[in-house]
Amino acid sequence: MENTEELRSQLEYIDKLKAITDDHLNDTGRKISCAVVTFGCQMNARDSEKLTGILEKAGFDVTEDEKGADLVIYNTCTIRDNANQKLYGHLGTLKAIKKSRPSLKIALCGCMMQEQSVIENISKNYKFVDLVFGTHNIYKFAELLYRTYTSDSQIIDIWEDTDQIVESLPVKRKYPYKSGVNIMFGCNNFCSYCIVPYVRGRERSREPVEIIREIERLVADGVVEVMLLGQNVNSYGRGLEGDITFAGLLREIEKIEGLRRIRFMTSHPKDLSDELIEVMASSKKICKHIHLPLQSGSDRILKDMNRRYTKEHYLALAQKIRAAIPDIAITTDIIIGFPGETKEDVDETIDVINKVCYDNAFTFIYSKRTGTPAAAREDQVEEAFAKEQFNRVLEAVRECSAKQNSKLTGHIEEALVESICEHDDTMVTGRLSNNSMVHFKGDSTLIGTIVPVRLTKSCGFYYIGESEQKES
Ligand code: SAH
Ligand code: SF4
Ligand code: F3S
Repeated sequence: MENTEELRSQLEYIDKLKAITDDHLNDTGRKISCAVVTFGCQMNARDSEKLTGILEKAGFDVTEDEKGADLVIYNTCTIRDNANQKLYGHLGTLKAIKKSRPSLKIALCGCMMQEQSVIENISKNYKFVDLVFGTHNIYKFAELLYRTYTSDSQIIDIWEDTDQIVESLPVKRKYPYKSGVNIMFGCNNFCSYCIVPYVRGRERSREPVEIIREIERLVADGVVEVMLLGQNVNSYGRGLEGDITFAGLLREIEKIEGLRRIRFMTSHPKDLSDELIEVMASSKKICKHIHLPLQSGSDRILKDMNRRYTKEHYLALAQKIRAAIPDIAITTDIIIGFPGETKEDVDETIDVINKVCYDNAFTFIYSKRTGTPAAAREDQVEEAFAKEQFNRVLEAVRECSAKQNSKLTGHIEEALVESICEHDDTMVTGRLSNNSMVHFKGDSTLIGTIVPVRLTKSCGFYYIGESEQKES
């Protein structure tokens, strides 16, 4: 349940911040500018919309200009080591800027801040950072930022976990016509390579009524597509009163009038139910796309990864989905170079790629994350070997996605127009139900609308099409 007392307290801090930004405006004739820089996944993107909502409400001028802003907030990711390195790169640049402009304030939040070694490093070697908070107390952002503006010392506030869900704080959406919606937080799966359960805490589902109410509000505000977010949406509902499942939640969301499209991520193969496949097959709103992370096709590696399914189970599941929902796009995540992985294990992964014939796959070289079981193993894989295997996997993925990505040529499909085409401003770019993109003639008045488009030509990762919309 929502903690209304905490909500009220945070709204008061927003008012206090507003007094600070108003003073600045009166003194200097301009607002305090602020840039929010987001790394990582859609969870973080949604969190950044929450930060931005609070900042706008508190009178800050939110800008994209990271190097020129008065306040810079990095919402960090730590899924792989290169995500961490990226942050340190940005911090190096800001350190130099802060030397010549000491009024610059720097805040860090997000998953990387939940790691103790990172906090030690920042408090010791990055003293110019003003505020550090984590994933569990993000709802206290207004209060923490107020303290930053009223104190001179570095503020670090990291919580181990939380059972609080504070909703209803202001949110500023990046897109007017689509939005992410958290349906759950955290993860309980502890895949042996993954740091997310340590930095995002235990799995907590939001109450269905809260989710429905949020989506209804979004729809009233112009949203036509929602992306339901969770690390493992298929286990939604555990721990809540009643028997609500993810499939049941989808049925309720389907009924929301004015909502046109429903997406979700991510589905863990071990919990994907027949009920979900049925709901997807009979739905008019759920998009024809499922992201179903494989990670590996080798039973031995899957067991060591603690994924709790086998190659056979995964293949049967993919087949069941394709049979029930023709034209569905299946995408996946694959890790190469997990400790102990051999060429033969990678052969098994490539076998699954060929059999499922993915529409797209995100491939990652295994990155050792301190504190995870896999990081303690002694049979870490040589980098050169992992790269070689990575290239083999990539080649297999390319062949399949090329095959899949021309499948709809000649069809008429609905596209949600997202933007003017980057390469040709007489065209717009839309997203199909199966997540492919299409470029077709049109102008900015179409943005946010759903247009029937004839897909005339496939160009690898996107289609070229013609609008089939009747003039009105
Ligand atoms: N909850 C999602 C995954 C979120 S992380 C799921 O289970 O499907 C997104 C992807 O990052 C994972 O699917 C995995 O492929 C990759 N990943 C996670 N930890 C990693 C690591 N230590 N090294 C390399 N890739 C990793
Ligand atoms: Fe990480 Fe596994 Fe949880 Fe996904 S399900 S976030 S890979 S631990
Ligand atoms: Fe997402 Fe990165 Fe955190 S992938 S959950 S932002 S570690």
